[in-house]
Amino acid sequence: MTLIKACIFDLDGVIVDTAHYHFLAWKRLADELGIAFTPEDNERLKGVSRMASMDILLEVGGVTLSDHDKERLANKKNTWFVDYVERMVPEEIFPGVKQLIEKLKEKGIKIGLASSSKNAKTVLQRLYVEPLFDVVVDGTMVKNSKPDPEIFLLAASRLGIAPADCVVFEDAEAGVEAALAAGMKCVGIGSRDQLGKADRVIRTTSDFQAADLATLAH
Ligand code: G6P
Ligand code: MG
Repeated sequence: MTLIKACIFDLDGVIVDTAHYHFLAWKRLADELGIAFTPEDNERLKGVSRMASMDILLEVGGVTLSDHDKERLANKKNTWFVDYVERMVPEEIFPGVKQLIEKLKEKGIKIGLASSSKNAKTVLQRLYVEPLFDVVVDGTMVKNSKPDPEIFLLAASRLGIAPADCVVFEDAEAGVEAALAAGMKCVGIGSRDQLGKADRVIRTTSDFQAADLATLAH
């Protein structure tokens, strides 16, 4: 039996509720464009890059724009998102996440962060948790966004751990698909309806205990 050797965490929606800030910023842009945009539509944006999200939003609204306009509007959305991030306080980290990571480290488990966000480092700094991670991989370092496995494979290779010995924690459907395509185990954070393909689905990250890793051994 092979034990899990590394845990790779997504950021937005897994470590902190920045997924909600992304939603608020996209919703504000949708309102400006006269696009009806619901929390259900937002599920499709989770885990995917900024420009891919822009394309999904326009598809929802049946709107076509030039690349130049798309870039300009995506930058505008990012300014609003960064405003939220700048007002964040360290207490916004989800309860139990720090303790879970510390317990995993005590067991000798390597810890990675793999987020499609180009703002990931700033968010980690706001929460004062950057030093908890052995490796941080973000949207500035990959070509292909989740559901492509690139980001998780890069995190595993930087950790020096084989993909099969990694477990990913993800709240996005695209993220669960990416983890499985990378040949990793995956714990879905959220609803079984959306994340049913994961090896296990829990409501919040703190529902996972370090001892549960044994149940993911293979
Ligand atoms: C994460 C979030 C997405 C977001 C993406 C890009 O994956 O789940 O909702 O669109 O990062 O974030 P960025 O901060 O680079 O716009
Ligand atoms: Mg996420």
